[in-house]
Amino acid sequence: MALWGGRFVHESHELFKEFNASLPFDCILLEEDIIASIAWSKTLMKSDILTKDEQIKIESALLVLLEESKDNIKNILLSNCEDIHSWVEKKLIDKIGILGKKLHTGRSRNDQITTDLKLWCRKKIYILLENINNLQKHFILSAESYHNIIMPGYTHLQRAQPITFSYWCLAYVEMLKRDASRLKDLLKRLNISPLGSGALSGTAWKIDREDLALSMGFDSATNNALDSVSDRDYIVELLSSASISMMHLSRFSEDLIFFNSGEANFIELSDSITSGSSLMPQKKNPDALELIRAKCGRVHGSLISILIVLKSLPLSYNKDMQEDKEGLFDSIKTWNDCLCIAILVLKSIKIKHESCRKAAEEGYSNATEIADYLVKKGMTFREAHNISGQLVLRAISEKKSLNNLELSTFKIYSNLIDDDIYKNITLESCLEKRLSKGGVAPFQVYEEIIKAKKRLKMFS
Ligand code: ARG
Repeated sequence: MALWGGRFVHESHELFKEFNASLPFDCILLEEDIIASIAWSKTLMKSDILTKDEQIKIESALLVLLEESKDNIKNILLSNCEDIHSWVEKKLIDKIGILGKKLHTGRSRNDQITTDLKLWCRKKIYILLENINNLQKHFILSAESYHNIIMPGYTHLQRAQPITFSYWCLAYVEMLKRDASRLKDLLKRLNISPLGSGALSGTAWKIDREDLALSMGFDSATNNALDSVSDRDYIVELLSSASISMMHLSRFSEDLIFFNSGEANFIELSDSITSGSSLMPQKKNPDALELIRAKCGRVHGSLISILIVLKSLPLSYNKDMQEDKEGLFDSIKTWNDCLCIAILVLKSIKIKHESCRKAAEEGYSNATEIADYLVKKGMTFREAHNISGQLVLRAISEKKSLNNLELSTFKIYSNLIDDDIYKNITLESCLEKRLSKGGVAPFQVYEEIIKAKKRLKMFS
């Protein structure tokens, strides 16, 4: 019988039962449901609703149940219980009989589910933070290994100014650092316990909710039961953090897919994360990266989906909210998987430094330097920009790079240009001059690497 069977005369329709059940997906909350149930049993004991002996019996049975079932989640699905809460309660009653029926005193599945979800999200956030840190570390290791590799930086996917591969790596370290800080920030709002809120208006039993909250590692208990059972902000925030981070990972993928293309030819991806074509023997496709790029879509979809579920939903709990889970569970797994695959990709990259450098040299990416050079000699930037542009046109028509134009040619465009132009427009000089905070100067990049290594405790 369902937990709520008493009021009902007729059986549920089979199709409705299946449609209504969340067990097929909320079974992964087994551990959280048991942790929260044990905490609840202790609260009931402190409030003299259970004796010490009864609490011990309940706790031991729940621990045995966890031990028996945690590696065998599939077995849980064989039951026809509605959800994980019903399943745990049924199994408890199977084990200890009528005493098991006391556990739900003062509790509702409404405060239970959001407590379980918060515990689950918190556990996953710690794993995500670990993986985000690991990925940052791998970016830093790559930045160190490829310190001297000059490549073009792009705007509009047009070669813009030279950068280094290390610098590109550090851009992603910054993004991941923000991703981690978003998680840490939302953790503060998430880590407040709703347990003891009852169905929607609190519990009539005299319990110490603060003590209960602390016993589960929460910072405090929520203030308003009506809000507590209605609140899924933490899921929206977590999925929004996931969406932003997945967007970062999709840009990382896209950058590397382009770097790996025959057209750019800057890197080679390892066999271990690429696949071949069944028809074209020459192909080595960047599948891992393409999948990360695409999986971003399902995470964004889950964020939109929970926002739409919650939009205009009346307070407090509605069954609509059961739809919060599948997208959340899928997105967190997807995000974690993508972080791990990104590490594999980074570890296996080979940089083709000659083609990187050649592309930086050929792309007129030092045209800004000519303009800056003229400004230093007294010209206004607008004028200098124009002359530099004309020199690019000239170089294109002579099929040369800017460095290879004759001094006499430079002089046609401006008398201010002297012999020292050449040393001012080398790729190295372009980089070295960008010493202001955040610039690409190799010395600065090196300092940033050291700082990041300290922050991530990479020095032994
Ligand atoms: N399976 C439900 C969910 O995931 C648990 C809460 C059920 N509460 C209720 N009043 N029916 O949302």
